[in-house]
Amino acid sequence: LHGQSSTSHLPSVLLLGPSGAGKTALLSHFERRAAAATPDDQPAKSATHTSQSPLSIELSASPSTTFLLVDTPGHAKLRGHALSHLSPATSKAENLRAVVFVLDAAADDLAAAAGYLYDVLLALQKRAGSGHGSKAPAAVPVLVAANKLDLFTALPAALVRSQLEAELGRIRSTRSRGLLGAEEEAGAAAEEGDDWLGEYGSEKFAFRQMMEFDVEVEVLGGSVVGEGPGADKWWRWIAERV
Ligand code: GTP
Ligand code: MG
Repeated sequence: LHGQSSTSHLPSVLLLGPSGAGKTALLSHFERRAAAATPDDQPAKSATHTSQSPLSIELSASPSTTFLLVDTPGHAKLRGHALSHLSPATSKAENLRAVVFVLDAAADDLAAAAGYLYDVLLALQKRAGSGHGSKAPAAVPVLVAANKLDLFTALPAALVRSQLEAELGRIRSTRSRGLLGAEEEAGAAAEEGDDWLGEYGSEKFAFRQMMEFDVEVEVLGGSVVGEGPGADKWWRWIAERV
């Protein structure tokens, strides 16, 4: 039974990241890869087919594990909807297992991607604190896919990682100053640390601080087109988590 209604119960993996990062290219790549791996005497739809919305496809991580890969638009004006997938109610309905945050490692700077990543990680941090005991929503791991490593201008994954951490730290201190200003204006005390990403009061941000909220963050380099390292590492990361 692979009717439309059954797909909503599948585990899902969400593709997030700024516009032009390569999310749709990656989804198409995995779709083609699955189709190529399907023997000719079997219908391709058992490996992959579009479902529910044109933005998600069904893929098999193993013969017994099928999941939905969900694409989202990266445009800043459309991020609210993309981020709504992370709210505890929506993600439970969707059976969200992982987030793949795709960014262009050859982009001029990572500041724009870091701003979006900050919102994603903060949403997951708040999500972790939204339930109590057994009601706490399942933790969602994040893969930062440093894409376009086929381009010689691209930063290697280790540098993407350290530059993102520095940038997220800068955003954190800027936003906390902004919040203090708003707080004074309102004349009310904001809940301490509510919008602070990672370890409260720490001087530097590091991805490992997200473990306190059960959010695992891994940065892996790869490429979707051209002569690069390819997307196999990312595929394995996903397959291990669905
Ligand atoms: P939005 O839908 O606007 O959020 O962007 P997106 O993240 O879906 O980007 P998309 O997949 O449309 O890719 C943007 C451009 O980057 C396309 O021209 C892709 O061919 C190109 N691209 C994607 N992956 C790679 C890669 O690994 N290397 C290179 N050189 N180009 C890539
Ligand atoms: Mg796209």
